[in-house]
Amino acid sequence: MTAAEGRFYITTPIYYPNGEPHLGHIYTTLCADTLARYHRLQGTRVHFLTGTDEHGIKMVKTAADLNVEPGALAEKMSASFRSTFDALHVTYDDYIRTSEPRHKDRVQEVVRRLQAKGDIYLGAYQGWYDEGQEEFVTETEAKAHEFKSVISGRPLTRYSEPTYFFRLSKYVPEVIKYIEANPAFIRPESRRNEVLSKLRMGVEDLSISRASLKWGIAMPDDPEHVVYVWIDALSNYITAIGLPEIAGTPADPRADLWPVNVHLLGKEILWFHAVYWPAMLMALGMPLPQTLFAHGWWTSEGRKMSKTMGNFIDLAKIHELTTKYGQETLRFHLLRVAPFGTDMDFNQADFVRSYSELGNVLGNLLNRVINMIGKYREGKLPAIGVSEDVADGPVVKAIAELPAKLGAAYAALELQSAATLALDVCRVANTYVDATRPFSLAKDPAQAARLDTILHLTAQAVRASLAAMLPILPEKAAQGLRQLGVSVEGRTLTELIATPIPVGQLLGPAEVLFPRVDEPAK
Ligand code: ME8
Ligand code: MG
Repeated sequence: MTAAEGRFYITTPIYYPNGEPHLGHIYTTLCADTLARYHRLQGTRVHFLTGTDEHGIKMVKTAADLNVEPGALAEKMSASFRSTFDALHVTYDDYIRTSEPRHKDRVQEVVRRLQAKGDIYLGAYQGWYDEGQEEFVTETEAKAHEFKSVISGRPLTRYSEPTYFFRLSKYVPEVIKYIEANPAFIRPESRRNEVLSKLRMGVEDLSISRASLKWGIAMPDDPEHVVYVWIDALSNYITAIGLPEIAGTPADPRADLWPVNVHLLGKEILWFHAVYWPAMLMALGMPLPQTLFAHGWWTSEGRKMSKTMGNFIDLAKIHELTTKYGQETLRFHLLRVAPFGTDMDFNQADFVRSYSELGNVLGNLLNRVINMIGKYREGKLPAIGVSEDVADGPVVKAIAELPAKLGAAYAALELQSAATLALDVCRVANTYVDATRPFSLAKDPAQAARLDTILHLTAQAVRASLAAMLPILPEKAAQGLRQLGVSVEGRTLTELIATPIPVGQLLGPAEVLFPRVDEPAK
């Protein structure tokens, strides 16, 4: 990774507050939170931005259906997103709302700069619009999909009005060149290829204003028009940290966070981030993001989430699951289910399996260690005694390799590995305990030094594993580490994983991290 060392700026999409948040929004935000927590634990200066995208036709239509003003809808739902994230202990550093003056003023400044560059002209838009996606659709694309949205399947809308255009086509060759030269810019790889092939088919200039819409940011010098919602929305990533050189405004101290390290987003909005946004930044003379990561979509119980199908994972469902199994199980589960970037299915049986896995693998190892050391060594961690390389080797190796493997997983945004690597170490240690049979060794005083080694290594394995889980299970992992007498303060994560519990340390008392939850009989 080549962005500025020592800091990590990460964003989620800003969400349309036209309804309550659901699993999809929570997912992206929790992924970003895991990355933010990881880098913070490594001592890096982190800036984690999320928020809501409050303008556009979609907001206007939903508000009209509900018989409220768009501003009132945005206010209410933006607060709901925010309180949902707060309740899930999301550690965002800033929450931007596009209705805020700090954003609106700076978006106008963005447009002024594009105008000054000669990249904006007045023309007439005639064509199709996908209101759910807030996206202009070409005649060819519209026809190919029977004039319906590729995303939602709803009919496209016909538009014909004077609008301002951004000379997107002028930047397309440069955007292509950039994507080709920077393999890590768009990830995963398969999505990068999709973007490139679509780009090579040719791209028209982008309509960037709406004369028929009142709800939005006024075009500078022509208040009859509002700025197209994607220009407005994408700009949040720089307006939130303060564009430098805004007339009359001292530069925000956070402006040095640009370029962003990671924009996390769902695959349906990759095109906007991979094409419009780089072209805008090029026109503004600003560096491009280091990485755009487009993750997959959640389905539920094998089907597209929908209210009518009754498989919608909404706030009530999420509340029910987290009340029963704990919030951190949700964090773990969402990452564990599939390799980061692929499509994912949410099903309850699998969710319950994630909980049992945490209990049977991580929780169980912690309990075994504390109970055995309590019983055989008065609770004090013994030193290594007699080693047997064949038996001990795999555990020693697993512990030693964990920091580097975890670091590599986070650096590569392999969040599934980040969530499961520590459990693999626990599995190795559980197998070790099963194979070496400490309870038998304890009956034979001649084996005391051998038992010391087994107890010691197992304790170190669970310590390293718990430390590695801190970004994903912040409270449970800290609670487990406390039982081992390990404080998480004052050390980077890598140091925590690599620093052994001192010999003689008093362990316990044992507390069960993932107590059995009784399923109602079916
Ligand atoms: O697109 N699976 O907002 P939005 C996975 N305002 N992720 C999902 C998901 C699902 N089924 N459903 C939603 C917008 N998401 C614009 C973005 S950014 C400058 C402007 C997540 O409310 C995923 O991150 O439709 C997706 O990209 C985002 O929510 C879309 O949220
Ligand atoms: Mg959407």
